[in-house]
Amino acid sequence: MSLTENPELKQRLVSAAAVEDDSSFELKLRPRRLQEFIGQSKVKENLAVAIEAAKSRGEALDHVLLYGPPGLGKTTLATIIANELGVAFQQTSGPALQIKGDLTAVLTNLQNRQVLFIDEIHRLQAQLEELLYSALEDYKLDIIIGQGPSARTHTMDVKPFTFVGATTRAGLLSAPLRSRFGIVLRLEFYTDAELKIIVQRSAEILGVEIDDAGANEIASRARGTPRIANRLLRRVRDFAQVRGAGRIDLATAQKALHMLEVDQHGFDEIDRKLLLTIIEKYQGGPVGVNTLAAALAEEAEAIEEIYEPFLIQIGFLNRTPRGRTVTRLAYEHFGISPSRRQSSLF
Ligand SMILES: Nc1ncnc2c1ncn2[C@@H]1O[C@H](COP(=O)(O)OP(=O)(O)OP(=O)(O)O)[C@@H](O)[C@H]1O
Ligand SMILES: [Mg+2]
Repeated sequence: MSLTENPELKQRLVSAAAVEDDSSFELKLRPRRLQEFIGQSKVKENLAVAIEAAKSRGEALDHVLLYGPPGLGKTTLATIIANELGVAFQQTSGPALQIKGDLTAVLTNLQNRQVLFIDEIHRLQAQLEELLYSALEDYKLDIIIGQGPSARTHTMDVKPFTFVGATTRAGLLSAPLRSRFGIVLRLEFYTDAELKIIVQRSAEILGVEIDDAGANEIASRARGTPRIANRLLRRVRDFAQVRGAGRIDLATAQKALHMLEVDQHGFDEIDRKLLLTIIEKYQGGPVGVNTLAAALAEEAEAIEEIYEPFLIQIGFLNRTPRGRTVTRLAYEHFGISPSRRQSSLF
């Protein structure tokens, strides 16, 4: 079966979420220092200052919350923070911590000033979250020993540490947890120019020759997301090796992306379905996010925090107080002409 006949592969190509064969490449392509990290200048600047200050005081860096859509560099930044501080790094995730003992073990084994990174922090269970509060606030941990009337609370010290939490769903974090982060950083979609630099950097690491126009083409279809840019680069490289001279230029990139059915904006099935649903079922909107979620069989939060941001960023979708509306650009993309009522609203 060819690549394009496999619907699962096709769909995954432009998904911002990581898929299994990404992991070894991501390790290789992942920037290790702040200076190698492209784009997100506000985030980098904030971090650079805070890291420098913490280092000069000889203290642990304040706790950091990283949030934003998948594939924009949250995990990468967490590892960079540890590298820049010159401290140990340990990673776990909300769903991996099941019982209080899991978290207690992690916290009691911390090294001085190290980075503890918890991914998908919005999926941490409420009881564990509470256990974390005092550790975050004053490096203390309350453990209950025994059961029933003879139970005693024992307070233990944990080493000063930097907690880095990452989430794609900042809206789901409880207020008390949120308030414990001294540094809150929101990652934005990358510009095409930034993605182009990422593509060129990755091509160099992978040892594949790419020209300016080829890098531009891949960057512009990566929906603002480095993970997708890197994935498209790998697929285009395969195509260039098998069908071309191994070098990526504009024509090779275009042919490869056409074969892979990655459209001009790098839309995936859900993007298309979301826009088409609003156009076809709701005459372009406005439609409430919950209604839309039901029509798409997706969670409303996922629509709000994962799919919509990119569509809003590129001007295809608007969030209004009365609900979501699509723009003229979206109609044009699908070659559909808006109804008269709708076009009077543009
Ligand atoms: N600013 C950047 N410069 C260069 N490469 C980057 C940058 N940000 C991300 N990448 C690349 O994109 C890949 C995905 O980034 P990362 O795993 O950090 O995303 P994430 O935000 O943690 O995603 P998820 O929400 O799925 O956990 C990295 O392996 C890295 O190669
Ligand atoms: Mg991650």
